[in-house]
Amino acid sequence: MSEPRPTATVARYDALAILFHWLTAILIGAVYALGQLRFIGGRGSALMHWMESTHYALGIAVGAAVVLRLVWRAARKAPEHERGLMGLAAYAGHIVLYVLMIATVALGILVEWRGGHAISFFGLFQVPALINLSFLSRHTLLSMHEFAANGIVIVVGLHAAAALLHHYVLRDEVLHRMIPLNLQVPRSRRVTYWVEHARRMLRDALPL
Ligand code: HEM
Ligand code: HEM
Repeated sequence: MSEPRPTATVARYDALAILFHWLTAILIGAVYALGQLRFIGGRGSALMHWMESTHYALGIAVGAAVVLRLVWRAARKAPEHERGLMGLAAYAGHIVLYVLMIATVALGILVEWRGGHAISFFGLFQVPALINLSFLSRHTLLSMHEFAANGIVIVVGLHAAAALLHHYVLRDEVLHRMIPLNLQVPRSRRVTYWVEHARRMLRDALPL
């Protein structure tokens, strides 16, 4: 008879998962800013061209980081989500983020392929236009790309707010398990004080 599989869960994300998480977060911030601010030096300027090609290259890096992260996640155990509605919301939010990240990168690549352009990765190698997409509208692809990118920003906002809520209000370990052990964030006394204060006021005000 075969042994039952061990069901032990892990308490924290491992070092590589944490590295991928924060690397993706930083890269997405940079790629989004490069996309939105590309005209600050003027349309057609050298700065605009530099920002666009850096946007494409770092965007490709985001795609690679997300794929590697998913492969790593499939190979290793990740901490379990909490039970109930909160856990379900966190799980759904993470899936939506993975889908949006992949969609944004794929749509960006399709915009370039639509124009028949190869995408250069900092001059080191090129991703050639593999299919002829000239029948698609550049405007539609670009709008979908921008829509997905803005979706990431909105969902990440909620995601980060939830992480901070866990840390400062619910005071559990959710944020700590995505932070390297030597960088653990102290819970600010001032925030803790105001949360306690608000809690006490609510308790006194409500007939609970
Ligand atoms: C997660 C990664 C990415 C994010 C968050 C992102 C975000 C954005 C944003 C915010 C814009 C500005 C849209 C506007 O005009 O209002 C933009 C434009 C654009 N993005 Fe991305 N992008 C990403 C990856 C990519 C990739 C991988 C490519 C292609 C290789 C790409 C190609 C483009 C193109 C072609 C434009 C139009 C401007 C231009 O011609 O340079 N993006 N992107
Ligand atoms: C572009 C920015 C970000 C993206 C794309 C992102 C994406 C994700 C994804 C996909 C996961 C699920 C990990 C997995 O189980 O595979 C995750 C987990 C997590 N993220 Fe983020 N994140 C971002 C920024 C942030 C920020 C700013 C914070 C904190 C303020 C944060 C805190 C966390 C925490 C604590 C977890 C673990 C949650 C849990 O175990 O239930 N993330 N993130």
